[in-house]
Amino acid sequence: MGIHDGKVVIVTGGALGIGGGASRAFAEEGARVLVADIDPDAGHQTVDEITAAGGQAAFVQADFSVPADPRRVVEQSVTQFGGVDFVFNNVGIQPRNSYRNAEDTTEEIWDAILSINLKSYWLMAKYAIPVMRDRGGGVIVNNASVQGQQSAPLVPAYAASKGGVLSLTRQLALDYARQNIRVLAVCPGSIDTPLMRNAISGETGEEPGDMDAAVTDAGARSPIGRIGTPADIANVVVFLCSDRASFMTGEFVNVDGGVMAQGAWADLGRAG
Ligand SMILES: NC(=O)c1ccc[n+]([C@@H]2O[C@H](COP(=O)([O-])OP(=O)(O)OC[C@H]3O[C@@H](n4cnc5c(N)ncnc54)[C@H](O)[C@@H]3O)[C@@H](O)[C@H]2O)c1
Repeated sequence: MGIHDGKVVIVTGGALGIGGGASRAFAEEGARVLVADIDPDAGHQTVDEITAAGGQAAFVQADFSVPADPRRVVEQSVTQFGGVDFVFNNVGIQPRNSYRNAEDTTEEIWDAILSINLKSYWLMAKYAIPVMRDRGGGVIVNNASVQGQQSAPLVPAYAASKGGVLSLTRQLALDYARQNIRVLAVCPGSIDTPLMRNAISGETGEEPGDMDAAVTDAGARSPIGRIGTPADIANVVVFLCSDRASFMTGEFVNVDGGVMAQGAWADLGRAG
C-alpha cells in the first residue's frame, strides 16, 4: 500500500535528475506516472526501471518550450490513465551559455529559459486544472529554486523565471483553493543532477578537472555539509501531494541543506 495508490501524476522533465527521482518516488507510492520529457531514451529508461520494480508508468515525448505540448501531455494522461490528480512542474534549464549579465543576455536565451521554466508551468496548470476539478481536486507542485528568493551573479533569466514560479504558485493557490486544488512550490538548494553539474562549469566557463570533487565541494559549503539528491526533493514533493499536507497551499518549502537559513555573513564568524 502506498500513499498515492490509484492516483495519476504528470512529472515534467520526468526522465532525469530531480524529475527522474520524483517519477520513481511517486511510483513507489502507488501512483501511475506519466513521464513527460524531451529525451526519449532517458524517458523510456526511467519508465522501464519503474515497471521492472513493479510500478506503473508511461512516457510521453514533449518539448516544454513548445506552447502546444503541455495540452497534449494532459490529454495523453486523460487517454492513458483516465485523468490527472497531481502535476509536478519540474522541467527547467540553465544552459551554460546563459551565465551573463543583462546586457549580454540575448533575447534567444531569455525566451528559451522563460518559456520552459515559467510559461510551461502556467500552461500545464491551465490544461490540468479543469481535469482535476472534474475529479474533485488535485495538487500542483512547482519546482522553483532558492534562486527564486536570493540570487547569485550572472543568472538574470534563470533568477527571474524562478521568482516568477513562486509568484505563480501563490496566484494559482488563491484562485483555486475553493476548488480543492492546492498549489505549492519546492525550492531546492544544490542537488546532484546533470543540470547542477552543467552549472558548475557554466559559472567558471570551464569543466573542472575532477567533477565529482567539485560536486562534493559544492555540497560541503551547505550547513548540512553534503550535496542534495533527487530523492531529497522527491520525498518532499510526494508528501506535499498527499492528504498529510491538506492544509498547505500557496507556500514554498526550501529543501536546501540549510542554505537559506544562513546569513551572508555566516562565514566571517567561523574560526579557522
Ligand atoms: N539541480 C539543482 O541543483 C537545482 C537547484 C534548484 C532548482 N532546480 C530545478 O529543478 C528542476 C530540475 O532540475 P534538474 O537539476 O533535475 O535538471 P536536469 O537537467 O538534470 O534534468 C532536467 C530534465 O528535463 C528534461 N528537459 C530539458 N529540457 C526540456 C524540454 N524543453 N522539454 C521537456 N523536457 C526537457 C531533461 O531531458 C531532463 O530529463 C529545474 O526546474 C531546476 O531549475 C535544480
